[in-house]
Amino acid sequence: MPFVEKLVIHGGHPLRGDVQVRGGKNTSLAVLSAALLCDEPVTLENLPDIEDVHVLLELMRRLGARIQRSGRNATIDPRQLTSHRPAPELCRKLRGSYYLLGALLGRVGEGAIPYPGGCEIGARPIDQHIKGFRALGAEVDDRYGMVEARTTGLVGTEVFLDCVTVGGTINVMLAAARAQGNTMIFNAAKEPHVVDTANFLNSMGARVRGAGTDVILIRGTQRLHGCTYTVIPDQIETGTLMIAAAATQGDVTLHGCIPAHMEALSAKLLEMGVRVDEQDDVIRVRSLGGHRAVNIKTQAYPGFPTDLQQPMSALLTTASGTSTVVETIFDKRFKHLDEMLRMGARAHISDRMAVIEGMPGLLGAPVYASDLRAGAALVIAGLMASGDTEIGNPQYIDRGYEKLEERLSALGAQIRRVMMQE
Ligand code: EPZ
Repeated sequence: MPFVEKLVIHGGHPLRGDVQVRGGKNTSLAVLSAALLCDEPVTLENLPDIEDVHVLLELMRRLGARIQRSGRNATIDPRQLTSHRPAPELCRKLRGSYYLLGALLGRVGEGAIPYPGGCEIGARPIDQHIKGFRALGAEVDDRYGMVEARTTGLVGTEVFLDCVTVGGTINVMLAAARAQGNTMIFNAAKEPHVVDTANFLNSMGARVRGAGTDVILIRGTQRLHGCTYTVIPDQIETGTLMIAAAATQGDVTLHGCIPAHMEALSAKLLEMGVRVDEQDDVIRVRSLGGHRAVNIKTQAYPGFPTDLQQPMSALLTTASGTSTVVETIFDKRFKHLDEMLRMGARAHISDRMAVIEGMPGLLGAPVYASDLRAGAALVIAGLMASGDTEIGNPQYIDRGYEKLEERLSALGAQIRRVMMQE
């Protein structure tokens, strides 16, 4: 039998101490791609050291961008792009590769990507991205799993998105930054990384207004200049660590985060009986247990983020009472709860709703991560459980969390990565 990597957690140890939050995964993917729009080198700071960022940097290198890394910073010189066709096998590894299409269309007037990969959490169409590119005047061919777009010149326009889409909003914003004239995006997503991408575009001389509201105005510019930009901290990593602190009845102080981005989660943790204190860029989470059940409904920002639904529902399996979790964004985002049934969790899943009956405790068991946040949820379950939990497919976790086991170990968790027989 082949050997595979697993995370083994010996649960029941409260997390205590201080931890630094890393730069945002989803914001980094957008901002890195946006760097291709520039006519000069740009330096990006605070990039997380995670698999999705490594893959995107490699994709950009293969397009001809010169990239110099120094720790968490990268200088990207996109002046001499040699290709407009990102490597399909790498694009399929991450969802964020769709941003290369908007960036290439804006910068060189053509691009071709396969349907992007990413977590399997339900249907993830990109029709709104394509609709936006077409509205800007691009010809888009969407056949055989490839999306090819070209234009002789994008022209600003009005784009009304049929649903609130983070990727669609950012992708249209990228292409429109280099269009002629003004573009208005209606029904835009308001997530922190939409705002961060707009701020980065503006640092390069673009003129984007209204990001963070549901109408974004982009005045196209013909030239973007170099700059140094620091990406914002990861909202979802912050939330995952907050939930882990509560789940282990710990006392953890998170540094370098943005408390305002965490309001939806903080409110739910407070409702459960967890203590959450915020000051400047610091959040302290303390819990003595005795958590109360709560109801969650995922929504676009500023609602409860779908990316924290999985870690949060892991915590709810041990809250006292019955919690309901409604997932409104993706249609298959409860696979972690199926795995947690092996650990003694009581959850009934029906379509987009999970009803969770809180149990006093979970028991360690072998489980498999089906996607990134399912992996994070299982880590939280393992930290709470008595005995050992073995988590298969830790590579999903590596896509979005920088050295999670090392950082949890530093907080007192007993977690290690081992090679085991499958
Ligand atoms: C982004 O995915 C994130 N990924 C996801 O992060 C996150 O869960 C999601 O936004 C929601 O916040 C990246 O940033 C790389 P959407 P994205 O477009 O852009 C529908 C994580 O764990 N839709 O906002 O794919 C879609 O089906 C993850 O880090 C269309 O119908 O999400 C969904 O129901 C996974 N047509 C809803 O909109 C479109 O053209 C929201 O999707 C686009 C989306």
